[in-house]
Amino acid sequence: MTPQFSSRDPNHPEFWDERFQQGFTPWNRGAVPQSLQDFVAHSEVSVSGTHHCLIPGCGHAHELEILSEAGWQVTAIDFSSSAVVTAKSQVGKWAERVQQADFFKFVPEQALTLIYERAFFCALPPAMRKAVVERWAVLLPVGAKLIGFFLLDDTEGASKKGPPFRTHPQEFQTLMQPYFVCLEDAEVSDSLAVFEGKERWQIWQRL
Ligand SMILES: C[S@@+](CC[C@H](N)C(=O)[O-])C[C@H]1O[C@@H](n2cnc3c(N)ncnc32)[C@H](O)[C@@H]1O
Repeated sequence: MTPQFSSRDPNHPEFWDERFQQGFTPWNRGAVPQSLQDFVAHSEVSVSGTHHCLIPGCGHAHELEILSEAGWQVTAIDFSSSAVVTAKSQVGKWAERVQQADFFKFVPEQALTLIYERAFFCALPPAMRKAVVERWAVLLPVGAKLIGFFLLDDTEGASKKGPPFRTHPQEFQTLMQPYFVCLEDAEVSDSLAVFEGKERWQIWQRL
């Protein structure tokens, strides 16, 4: 049976609370994506000091443990209380690194070196894209990186239905280029069905 939802606006935490509470979470991987595992394995934090990493819209924060175990300082935020309660219960000793916060208002205690993106940008309606990119740019100092998964699709009209909302690659490039340069763009081998064939692993550096 299809679940019934009363909240229809992904800009509000209630939208996400309802879906988490009803267990309707087709984006939820329940594990760490391979491309992120590879990035962590090749990360050179010991040379340059530790990473200070933010995970916006973390959901159940499945990635928090591997990043924390790698020695990174990580903060995972989500504005859905349901997401935060479950995340805290699942991340063991790293629970206090999960915070209930709105991405657009959150101010990190220390300068970030990384933001990790997965299924947050594509969760918000297209009208919010410019604001997300601008917030990434404010939060990341020059040289810092935005890493993660981006749902890109050059099919006409692809961005109209969601979440997840797909973005035309040219639109994404146009939004990003005032602030970031793309260092890496790769296929993803282990996408979930809802992202299959349209998900890219990318690394962007703040200009
Ligand atoms: C599709 S889920 C993805 C969750 C997680 N990143 C993952 O990969 O499983 C999108 C998440 O973004 C959160 N979110 C949406 N807008 C937000 C905002 N303004 N501030 C913080 N979290 C937000 C939602 O509550 C939800 O948990």
